Amino acid sequence: MRHLIDIKDLSVQEIDGLIQCAEDIIKDPLKYAQVCRGKKLAILFFEPSTRTRLSFEAAMLDLGGSVLGFSSAETSSASKGESVSDTTRVVGCYADIIAMRHPKEGAPLAAAMKSYVPIINAGDGGHNHPTQTLTDLLTIKTEKGRLDSFTIGFCGDLKFGRTVHSLISALSRYKNIKYVFISPPELKLPDYIKTDVLDALGLEYTEIERMDEVLPELDILYMTRVQKERFFNEADYIRLKDTYIFNEEKLKLAKDDLSILHPLPRVNEISPSIDDDKRACYFRQARNGKFIRMALIMKLLEVSV
Ligand code: CP
Repeated sequence: MRHLIDIKDLSVQEIDGLIQCAEDIIKDPLKYAQVCRGKKLAILFFEPSTRTRLSFEAAMLDLGGSVLGFSSAETSSASKGESVSDTTRVVGCYADIIAMRHPKEGAPLAAAMKSYVPIINAGDGGHNHPTQTLTDLLTIKTEKGRLDSFTIGFCGDLKFGRTVHSLISALSRYKNIKYVFISPPELKLPDYIKTDVLDALGLEYTEIERMDEVLPELDILYMTRVQKERFFNEADYIRLKDTYIFNEEKLKLAKDDLSILHPLPRVNEISPSIDDDKRACYFRQARNGKFIRMALIMKLLEVSV
């Protein structure tokens, strides 16, 4: 039995296989419409979500399976003090696979250690979000036609942005990628990612505060929201939340084939005025989330067409 807790639980070959499978689903969705017939996905979301939860649900329904679960801790027995691992063991009696989001880093890993069914980490605190990373990789592959040889800028809340952490970990295994980290000093990338991932592999990266100076060099810009829910002090959030706003003025500095990604939800960091520019990929990215999750569910349930 396999779980997906960290993107490194998948080899590069497996990630490439999932992307190929998702591309095939996009081409011929009807071929996959019954492959999970009789199977159930449980959604255990202890933290709010729109894209991840609903794309998981849509993915299982489009595979012919069914979905059960809860979308907040308050409506589950977690509110009575039940542990994550007890909840998981019980839900494993009712479902074949579980997608879990939790505000505590490591909660899906703790659940997986006691689970009888595959656990998918659908986001744990400010730590990891491996299925968003699969979504991002499918989007980069679709938009750029490759997963290597580009310069990518990560901008915004690089400290708490779990999608950033997982994506860097995944991209570190592909060749010839230059990383630019754009953030205020308070929201810099955690040291453990720099030392354990980037420095350990001798990868090239720069850290800067101003976006303008680097925009003309970027092939991909990965914008992020300042993660209000992870701040201890509201005054700090208010001071930092609008540090970066990507708008038409910024777009003038960018390459014609820049790809702008954002895991969403956005707040103010990308102006809606650029949404219809061909370089704005974030709604296509959200759409890709369903197809790659279909491929992942099939892999973990060991079903095929
Ligand atoms: N990208 C993402 O995880 O969005 P949700 O929080 O809406 O699931």
